[in-house]
Amino acid sequence: MSASTAAKKKAAIRAVKHIENGMIIGLGSGTTVSFAIKHIGELIAADKLYDIYGVPTSIQTTFEAIKAKIPLTSLDEHPQLDLGIDGADQLDVKLNAIKGGGGALMREKIVAAACKEYILIADESKLTDVLGNGKVVPIEIHPFAVTPTLKSVEKLGAKVSLRQSSGKLGPLVTDNGNYIIDADFGPIQDPWWLNRELHAIPGIIETGMFLGYAHLAYVGGRGSVKRLKPQPDATLKKI
Ligand code: 5RP
Repeated sequence: MSASTAAKKKAAIRAVKHIENGMIIGLGSGTTVSFAIKHIGELIAADKLYDIYGVPTSIQTTFEAIKAKIPLTSLDEHPQLDLGIDGADQLDVKLNAIKGGGGALMREKIVAAACKEYILIADESKLTDVLGNGKVVPIEIHPFAVTPTLKSVEKLGAKVSLRQSSGKLGPLVTDNGNYIIDADFGPIQDPWWLNRELHAIPGIIETGMFLGYAHLAYVGGRGSVKRLKPQPDATLKKI
């Protein structure tokens, strides 16, 4: 196992310690969350956790949760979730994040917004001083609006590309039947402003900018796992 994979696993296991019997859990998507899902399954199998239900944020996570024998439920049955655990493509010390590398951003954000407590898990390569520095912002768009949306996002200063599928010709189709634009804005000085501007563009369904959702993050490194709370006025160097 590579150092970054081991770091992801350690962060995931720390987050799972927050789960208590009877909780309804938002299950994020991605390789880091996969470790959390497997660990929850192990705890259920060992009778160390019970009465747990998960709300998955992607088809991939649904399959992984079924394999781990985690009972599933929906936001219609449980519009408020006790806890959410999700990965990130990039996060800053305010615990604002860029997500959507796996294309699951729309359901991930809906679930994030439904959680009483929302925990991000990642390896330390995901930490940044400034969101967007070396990372694109994934944006879910409606297939009817590809070219107008690309042009509008470009006007906001981004280099844009329509994410392509692998293993199939053509654009990547999300679990919701939409497409993904990857927008490279470079370092984003005001993510709240940018997110508002993006949401004002017709055809944009959701952005991968997760601002103000996370209450806590576990970030795995070579040795320990850092426990980070949002630090509104800090810079990365201070933690
Ligand atoms: C999927 C996501 C993932 O959480 C994000 O891409 C991180 O993935 P990984 O844990 O595999 O590094 O937002 O849409």
